[in-house]
Amino acid sequence: MRHNPVLLEEVLEHLGLKPGAVVMDGTLGSGGHAAAILEKIGPEGKLIGFDQDPAAIARCRELFRGEPRVILVHENFRNLEKVFLKLKVTAFDAVLLDIGASSEQLADGKRGFSFQTEGELDMRMNPEVGPKASELLAQMSEAQLADLFYYYGEEHHSRRFARVIVEARRQHPLRTTEDLIHVLEQAIPAQLRFKKGKRPSWARRHPATKVFQALRIGVNDELNALKEGIAGAFHHLAKKGRLGVISFHSTEDRIVKQQFRKWADEDQGELIFRKPVVAKRSEILNNPRSRSAKLRVIEKIS
Ligand SMILES: C[S@@+](CC[C@H](N)C(=O)[O-])C[C@H]1O[C@@H](n2cnc3c(N)ncnc32)[C@H](O)[C@@H]1O
Repeated sequence: MRHNPVLLEEVLEHLGLKPGAVVMDGTLGSGGHAAAILEKIGPEGKLIGFDQDPAAIARCRELFRGEPRVILVHENFRNLEKVFLKLKVTAFDAVLLDIGASSEQLADGKRGFSFQTEGELDMRMNPEVGPKASELLAQMSEAQLADLFYYYGEEHHSRRFARVIVEARRQHPLRTTEDLIHVLEQAIPAQLRFKKGKRPSWARRHPATKVFQALRIGVNDELNALKEGIAGAFHHLAKKGRLGVISFHSTEDRIVKQQFRKWADEDQGELIFRKPVVAKRSEILNNPRSRSAKLRVIEKIS
């Protein structure tokens, strides 16, 4: 399943892309946004694309084969500083961060990102960095797990889920998505239980959704990466350069909103709009993933 870039028109409109621009795409994924950006910046433009997932870099190597305007970097965007000098650019005219997981990551059962496919509970976007989700589930205390589910997943049953996980792991390790779902299902109040094909209309999400989201954010340290990524990107923006961030849940959006407001209050940046841009109804119908997407853009003043 090929990833469908969200808010594409809006990104192209608000990033202020001009022919010859130097653009960083911090989250290449399948290169959907990147390909559209390349069309806008013309033959003199340059695109530096990051992704921490080697599979995304491999897809983009295929997509942009023979394209001299593109530099691909297999790196976490939080490490921009580490590689910036090697990129041989002075500053970026625009940076896009479209955070979260790609459709390809969610669809690849072997990587354990989704409760809808059976696979090992791994969830590392970069398979060389950090503990797997199964290791977090084995090592964290009950209180730490509850906090993880609550703060990263906004899961109301966080304590209950943490308790059943700790009880279950005494019997056997939780290694696969099935193992975890089985345990969570025991803890879910009967009226919330997900029944295939019989889901009540008010129960819009599978009850394991937020736990999976929280684990993914924890495994990949996504919130700290976001904080460091936007700081690094803003630092390397040219004057009048723009930074756009697409986030998918409120904890991420809050981080972006607060940091952008701070820069605006300090007269370092100007918000392009106060309220985030969200997907139009027509886009949500075609691509349900866009339902929770929020785009914020800031322009650097000084
Ligand atoms: C939502 S997808 C991006 C989709 C892309 N805009 C497109 O049009 O195909 C997010 C991608 O960002 C990558 N990613 C997430 N956090 C990252 C980080 N901190 N550093 C580098 N890549 C990251 C993921 O591996 C994933 O491939």
